[in-house]
Amino acid sequence: MDAVELAMGLRAAFAVAGAADALEGWPELRVTRNVAPASLPVCAVLGAAAEGAPAPCAALVAGLRDGASALRWGQTYGAADFGADFLQSYGWTELIGLRGPIASDFVAVGVLLLGPGVVYPPHAHEAAEVYLPLSGKAEWMRGDAPYAPVAPGQAIHHPSWLPHAMRTGAEPLVAAYVWRGGNLAAKSRIIAGG
Ligand SMILES: [Fe+2]
Repeated sequence: MDAVELAMGLRAAFAVAGAADALEGWPELRVTRNVAPASLPVCAVLGAAAEGAPAPCAALVAGLRDGASALRWGQTYGAADFGADFLQSYGWTELIGLRGPIASDFVAVGVLLLGPGVVYPPHAHEAAEVYLPLSGKAEWMRGDAPYAPVAPGQAIHHPSWLPHAMRTGAEPLVAAYVWRGGNLAAKSRIIAGG
């Protein structure tokens, strides 16, 4: 799948999940910006993630796997944030937003990848966020609540500045995200001692 097909797939997946707030303000889905492809080590998990995706998400994750080499995969953090190992198992690509191939000043939409056995420590950001896991049953933490498993297809809502974190087990995680409000290109704030 190319960026537009993937964005259409994500829009449909958020709709199926009942995450109406994730769907507000999306632009027309057409490529308006040339974005040079870039890969990351974590892209290697896409094969296993496609194999492990449940039926409703399987075609979309397979499309992501097949189209990944044409996308720009990046990282917001450096080794000083969560260590060098984290960077081997973390990355994201923006499809819609200030930097992605489908330009928008109002929403950022993309996909996060985490390898197996990774902790993405507590962080927060001004933008309100909706996540939708597509493959991998990771554990998610919101605010003061303990970590809890979230199955693919179940949306997770993070209001502005609510600390959140996730950790993977044996399976990699593929999760779609939507950001709205605040600085759509901001690096998340790490929550010390979280
Ligand atoms: Fe977030």
